[in-house]
Amino acid sequence: MRRYLILWFFVMAPLVLAAQQVTLDPYNYSVDKYLNISNCAVVSAHPLASKAGVLIMQQGGNAIDAAIATQLALAVVYPQAGNLGGGGFLVAHTKNGDNITLDYRETAPAAAHRDMYLDANGVAQTRKSLDGHLAAGVPGTVAGLFAAHKHARLPFAKLIAPAILMAEKGFVITAAEAAGLNRQRESFLRLNTQPTAFVKNEPWKKGDTLIQKELAHTLQLISAKGMKGFYEGETAQKVVAEMKRGNGIITLDDLKNYQAKVRQPLLFTFAGYNILTMPLPSSGGIGMQQMLNMVEQYPLQQWGFHSAKSVQVMIEAERRAYADRAVFLGDQDFVKVPVKKLTDKKYARERMLSFTPGTASVSQNIAAGNIMPESTETTHLSVVDQQGNAVSVTTTLNSSYGCRVVAAGFILNNEMDDFSVKPGSPNIYGLVGAEANAIAPRKRMLSCMTPTIVMKENKPVLITGTPGGSTIITSMFQTLLNDLVFKLDASSTVNAPKFHHQWLPDVVEVEKDFPDSTALALEKMGYKIVKSNPIGRVELIKIHANGKIEAVGDKRGDDSAAGF
Ligand code: DON
Repeated sequence: MRRYLILWFFVMAPLVLAAQQVTLDPYNYSVDKYLNISNCAVVSAHPLASKAGVLIMQQGGNAIDAAIATQLALAVVYPQAGNLGGGGFLVAHTKNGDNITLDYRETAPAAAHRDMYLDANGVAQTRKSLDGHLAAGVPGTVAGLFAAHKHARLPFAKLIAPAILMAEKGFVITAAEAAGLNRQRESFLRLNTQPTAFVKNEPWKKGDTLIQKELAHTLQLISAKGMKGFYEGETAQKVVAEMKRGNGIITLDDLKNYQAKVRQPLLFTFAGYNILTMPLPSSGGIGMQQMLNMVEQYPLQQWGFHSAKSVQVMIEAERRAYADRAVFLGDQDFVKVPVKKLTDKKYARERMLSFTPGTASVSQNIAAGNIMPESTETTHLSVVDQQGNAVSVTTTLNSSYGCRVVAAGFILNNEMDDFSVKPGSPNIYGLVGAEANAIAPRKRMLSCMTPTIVMKENKPVLITGTPGGSTIITSMFQTLLNDLVFKLDASSTVNAPKFHHQWLPDVVEVEKDFPDSTALALEKMGYKIVKSNPIGRVELIKIHANGKIEAVGDKRGDDSAAGF
């Protein structure tokens, strides 16, 4: 402990000294659900990661520096989704008015093929795209962080220092983390060929210290060698050796060839606001735009928040957007996607012609829109700095703790399950897909992640995003409506109960605290209502015209705001 404190002081002294309001103590921290401040803020899934980001801004870093430091810290303190072995999307709006969208989604390994998860009879072996080595896509996160670093101010070594320290010397885990690790104990043991830091003899409990020496070593290699510290040399060799031991297919070439991509931002208007969000290979931006387009013609505010009338229209918009997603969306580098038509406001109105107020549509009759081909456990963080740079990042290993295989100290994703392993065969989130999202070598699997920035007169007013698999798009749709149309306060925008329809299965999921009276009214219209697990864990930063910042971490997890 004494040695730890001394080392802590030397590595972190400049950060701690610079911090007036925020300090980082991995042995003693608490969750902050709401802050009302005026300079800068980070909201993420873990208090230590949010604080790491703010400390970097106190040291002179901008919002991109903070977003990088927060992601690296999450890779240590939030192993279920924060990651080196996964991928993500970054959306940013700079103080100079530039919009940035970075895609560091995983890719299918070169040896992947369309039917790799089908047995001899053509039946989908769904666990194979979820558990173990074969489920992993080629990780994109580290390439993404370096692509983002072009817009940062501080040296990368400084941004990674808090993560290295917390991996090397450990941090105290929350009750939720302890429960998560205990749930996966059997999987970690079964799916790994070597011991990992995530299993110990006794069950984990709140207050235990998680030390990740091998991860610290990998982080140090990245700090010293940059991207090559991950995609080549010792780390890459360790990943490939683990792949060979466990019959995985990721090769040294797959790692060396991985590239993050700068995408053309998806920008559209809704209710007088400019929405900046992620284009393909996320289906989230397009899906959210379609839903907003479809409800724009209805007087939702007048009908009221959570009134049966408003909720019905929103459900029907969700149903139709998810139907289109299943058929049309996939990696645009590989398939043609009719984005222009799908996101057209006139098309949205046509899609709603089949909507009957007071009566549930039936998914079987809705199907995807009629379009002629055109001439093709996740976690979110929101950041704003004192200059007004805004960053919104969603990153993932897919399901909790990914494929649970650990290599070079980090957990690998099971993102291959986001491909459509067979047309019509649902993935872990019940999503179905078709040819557009079929597996092909080096292709990116379709995502729902929807990091978003809402702007008024070219200035960010909301920075938001969420995990939640298929529910991400509806969570973002409802978060935007909660603020922009229903005018809820910032905490209620995040914490109000949500509902979700994804075309198939043809049911409406509602959170436990969703109003019974509305659920009953919907049942009378013919909707099948089922109670769901919590939907989404939204991180929201709201920036007011007078410069005040509200930062809200979702009540549904350990999500926590930091700032001053
Ligand atoms: O990219 C996607 O859409 C999924 N892999 C996201 C997974 C997710 O949100 C899990 N968290 N609850």
